[in-house]
Amino acid sequence: MSEQRVKISGVGGYLPARRVSNDELAQTLDTSDEWIVSHTGIRARHIMAADESGTDMAEQAARAALARAGVSPADLGLIVVATTTADYGGFPSNACLLQARLGAPAAAAFDLGAACTGFVYALEVARGLMLCGSGRPALVVGAEAMSRLVDWTDRNTCVLFGDGAGAAVLEVTTEPDRGILGSYLRADGTGSGFLWAGGGLRVPPPNPEPRQAHMQGRPVFNFAVKAMAEVVLHFLETLQIAPEEVRYVVPHQANIRILQAAQKRLPIAPDRFVVTIDEVANTSAASIPLALAELDRQGRLAPGDVVLTTGFGAGLTYGGNAIRW
Ligand code: UT7
Repeated sequence: MSEQRVKISGVGGYLPARRVSNDELAQTLDTSDEWIVSHTGIRARHIMAADESGTDMAEQAARAALARAGVSPADLGLIVVATTTADYGGFPSNACLLQARLGAPAAAAFDLGAACTGFVYALEVARGLMLCGSGRPALVVGAEAMSRLVDWTDRNTCVLFGDGAGAAVLEVTTEPDRGILGSYLRADGTGSGFLWAGGGLRVPPPNPEPRQAHMQGRPVFNFAVKAMAEVVLHFLETLQIAPEEVRYVVPHQANIRILQAAQKRLPIAPDRFVVTIDEVANTSAASIPLALAELDRQGRLAPGDVVLTTGFGAGLTYGGNAIRW
């Protein structure tokens, strides 16, 4: 009998309508288009409307991915939403809200928190559950409302982030040479202080911390370069993939300089690295599925393409997935 694998059968993305340029930010913040572009590669980000939520964005991306895969919500056995900016501070999860919206009564539903590496983690968690579970399709979403978490007076962080959602539908397949070939999930909790958001229950009432992101950019930058290269090298070595076989490296979109520095450590040509950061900024767990959805929208993904995802984020977490499309 042929080996069972899990393939991605559809992807979809959603960006809020409002596009905010660097120049617009510079009207209220001590920054400039020149600084942001030269230090990060970011030209614009999309920001949610006041009446929009992370679940609203997840729903749009999920519906697009389900339509692309030709899968009905009623058939789903699992919904995982990777997010660290859920609609509610504690519960219910965005995944349960999404399950109700879509009408997916057979689906287990939970959120997964691995920050910007969340989608990478969620793909592997879903793959594992599918291969030892019901065999039903799964929906994996990365959705982040970063604009609600940043301090809009802190130029060190607020210019870097944007809102958005990306989704993938996963199905079990016995097609040879197709599907997720492997994943690599890692964390280094000793770096937890470099990137964190308050507002949890660590501090008891009556003076809880504000729910805001804090970052030391340089150590995160240095960690990211090493981590993203390590992930790709791991796949080349353990799966015996030749560098020229790699059609796309889809990295977490945090900073163009991080991508370029990671690329220089790898034997893979620069044009294989997918770059979307200029128009979307850092959308955390949504960044990799949004980039996959954009590739698909442009008709650039073909069956058999080898796609390596690689990401890093708060935790610090890092990891990737090796996929034969
Ligand atoms: O998903 C994970 C999320 N986090 C990341 O990926 C962040 C990783 N780190 C980075 O991307 C970079 O470290 C940053 C983009 C955050 C910063 O770039 P950098 O080249 O490391 O700059 P820096 O921290 O060394 O700061 C240089 C200067 C500082 O001024 P002084 O102290 O030299 O006078 C900052 O205050 O740039 C200043 N600066 C800004 N200036 C204008 C910081 N942010 C801005 C800004 N506009 N938005």
